[in-house]
Amino acid sequence: MKRAIEKNLISINFYNPRDFTTNKHNKVDDYQAGGGAGLLLNAQPLLDTLKKIKNKNKNIYFIFPAPAGKTFIQADAKRLANKEHIVFVNGRYEGIDERVVETYADEVFSIGDYILTGGELASCVMSDAISRNIDGVLGNKESLSEESFENMLIEAPSFTKPAIYENRSIPSEFLKGNHAKIINLKNEMAKLKTKYFRPDLYLHAKCKKEK
Ligand code: ADE
Repeated sequence: MKRAIEKNLISINFYNPRDFTTNKHNKVDDYQAGGGAGLLLNAQPLLDTLKKIKNKNKNIYFIFPAPAGKTFIQADAKRLANKEHIVFVNGRYEGIDERVVETYADEVFSIGDYILTGGELASCVMSDAISRNIDGVLGNKESLSEESFENMLIEAPSFTKPAIYENRSIPSEFLKGNHAKIINLKNEMAKLKTKYFRPDLYLHAKCKKEK
């Protein structure tokens, strides 16, 4: 991502809701209305931050990371790479006043079934996955089309040299230089690997399936 920023393919800015507070101590957290354990991000500073961002650019796409969101997948990373401006709105404490989510969220995503201390890491994960689908970000274009999830398949195992290392050999076909055969073999290995390790993905895989 550092290189993508240097090449002006992406840019990243930050807004701090604390800069939009109207209270004396620039507090952004607040107790939950009606009680409940833990603090929330208060609605006012966040709403004012997002209003300012939206007024600057009506085409902003707001993503809220949250455990309750739909699971972020490769298809989302590809689709969102076409958006010009994405704002990730990160919750802290126990979360965000729900009215902010209702007013601004274009999509809510979870990056997995576990609870992080805030949305920042989830936003970093999604930014990375989205950015690498932007033209020019990856050095080698082919690596995008060959990699895992392109057909909902796990990528075939890959190897480096030497061909034999500590008595373990790479598949002999890889050494013979017949690229059509190697591609076929890799496709078969990708299918088998997916079927074995991720049967849930295999159900949706875009490939000819044996019974
Ligand atoms: N915020 C806290 N946990 C999260 C998760 N698993 N995914 C996205 N955002 C989160």
